[in-house]
Amino acid sequence: MQLDLFMRNDCVKVHPFRTQLLKWVGNKQRFAHEIVSYFPIEFGTYFEPFLGSGAVLGTLAPKKAIGSDVFKPLLEVWQTLSRDPQALCEWYSERFEIYWSEEKPAGYERIKASFNSNPNAADLLFLCRSCYGGVIRFRKADGYMSTPCGVHSPINPDSFKKRVETWHRRMKGAIFFHDDFGPIMEQAKKGDIIYCDPPYTHSQSILYGSQSFDLARLLEKIDLCKSRGVRVALSIDGIKKSGNMICDIPLPDGLFEREIFVNCGRSMLRRFQMEGTTLETEEVKDRLLLTY
Ligand SMILES: C[S@@+](CC[C@H](N)C(=O)[O-])C[C@H]1O[C@@H](n2cnc3c(N)ncnc32)[C@H](O)[C@@H]1O
Repeated sequence: MQLDLFMRNDCVKVHPFRTQLLKWVGNKQRFAHEIVSYFPIEFGTYFEPFLGSGAVLGTLAPKKAIGSDVFKPLLEVWQTLSRDPQALCEWYSERFEIYWSEEKPAGYERIKASFNSNPNAADLLFLCRSCYGGVIRFRKADGYMSTPCGVHSPINPDSFKKRVETWHRRMKGAIFFHDDFGPIMEQAKKGDIIYCDPPYTHSQSILYGSQSFDLARLLEKIDLCKSRGVRVALSIDGIKKSGNMICDIPLPDGLFEREIFVNCGRSMLRRFQMEGTTLETEEVKDRLLLTY
């Protein structure tokens, strides 16, 4: 951990918040508090345009926030959490019953088929909690959600309800939009902060569906934000313990003022791909780049 490289008196101190509402590959739940500790103490609105499972937003629990993501069924989970948390509990309970109504994995496969015929938030919510490794994968050719049933049992509806209540409280200050990062980042004003956690450029498009991701376009947006006095923190790629880059991304000179490596333990993606093999050398560190 490189927490000591900078004066840390001016940092945001929050407790770790490790209770996930959604399972999401690449989520930052376990070390979101470390990321948050590099945010400025005072800021206007907090923006998170690659929301995923909302780990950083949920950990920070800011007074005023905008959370967004380009994946519509996912975003609808967040909108429903803030508007009608009870509906999330009902969605989950209904599918929990279907899941256990037949011999495994028939119930899971029915929910998956329902999602694939009409991608929707209710099915996604349950699938992400019950699929193999918590890794929602889409077939490249046709966007079909292909992850098999997980070996674990999904949490029961009472436990899920407690999570919904906790997350509803923590997300009170946030409003949610289904959108690409571009128009969302354009809304940020001087004094605001944006945290970006884009898909790992080399590996994650298959995991989040067919959307393409253009890092160069994101870097341009970050530059524009910086010139307006908006602070931006960007999580990007990782390095293996051995020091090999997973992906080597050219960054414009002068855009970022600081670079920090945040410990994030073992990579979920590797765990999924390397089932049964040792991962001792696969520890990765997340790179956090700050424009301030
Ligand atoms: C690495 S995940 C974010 C994980 C999140 N930090 C968490 O803790 O769960 C990246 C997210 O970016 C979203 N995404 C991909 N392309 C996008 C785009 N062009 N605009 C907005 N969101 C996008 C994906 O749907 C995915 O949820």
